[in-house]
Amino acid sequence: MTMIHETVVTTVSPEGVVHVAPMGIVASPGTILLKPFRPSVTLDNVLATRAAVVNFTSDVRIFAGCVTGRKEWPTLPAQRVTGVRLESTLAHAELRLLEHREDAQRPQLLMQRIHDVQHAGFEGFNRAQSAVLEAAVLVSRLGMLDAQKILHEVGYLHIAVSKTAGEAEQQAWRWLMEAIEKHHPGLLPADLAGSRQ
Ligand SMILES: Cc1cc2nc3c(=O)[nH]c(=O)nc-3n(C[C@H](O)[C@H](O)[C@H](O)COP(=O)(O)O)c2cc1C
Repeated sequence: MTMIHETVVTTVSPEGVVHVAPMGIVASPGTILLKPFRPSVTLDNVLATRAAVVNFTSDVRIFAGCVTGRKEWPTLPAQRVTGVRLESTLAHAELRLLEHREDAQRPQLLMQRIHDVQHAGFEGFNRAQSAVLEAAVLVSRLGMLDAQKILHEVGYLHIAVSKTAGEAEQQAWRWLMEAIEKHHPGLLPADLAGSRQ
């Protein structure tokens, strides 16, 4: 089994346009593997600039925001590569492209980890954050998933949100439930759409 960490990848286009995308990464000593599904702005930007930044963040609003059309998040310049990191990130790694493994659906970008910076410490696991991540994955696949499966999974995930969410997690949850409601009007009972009871 390969361990995957859910992160936020920031890249810039050759014209300097910042792009923010949640992405699962595979970290090995000295390298990070990115696996963007085509079509992907992240893929285009990495191939053009040969650089990316991986942000290790516990702010789940960024994950939920990106999959619900909220793609603008405050960033600061990276130090060693052409690019940016998220302002609020706990830590970030600056990456250079080592190898591009072509694939029609899901190319692999093997990146060299050239600079790591810690900004703040890990504050412990939070069940609502994990639940928001799972719900964000569901929302990113709304077009492919059966409505009853979504209803069932959201019902379970909502337990952790209702018990353990802070403000940020509640907001992220609301954005995700709005997106589900928009795609499947009337699917969600009212109590699931709210984040605290
Ligand atoms: C937790 C999480 C993990 C994700 N991991 C990936 C991934 O590994 N590869 C990918 O292509 N998209 C992934 N996505 C979906 C992308 O963030 C989304 O489709 C995004 O728009 C990527 O395309 P882009 O590079 O054009 O922005 C993930 C989404 C979430 C919420």
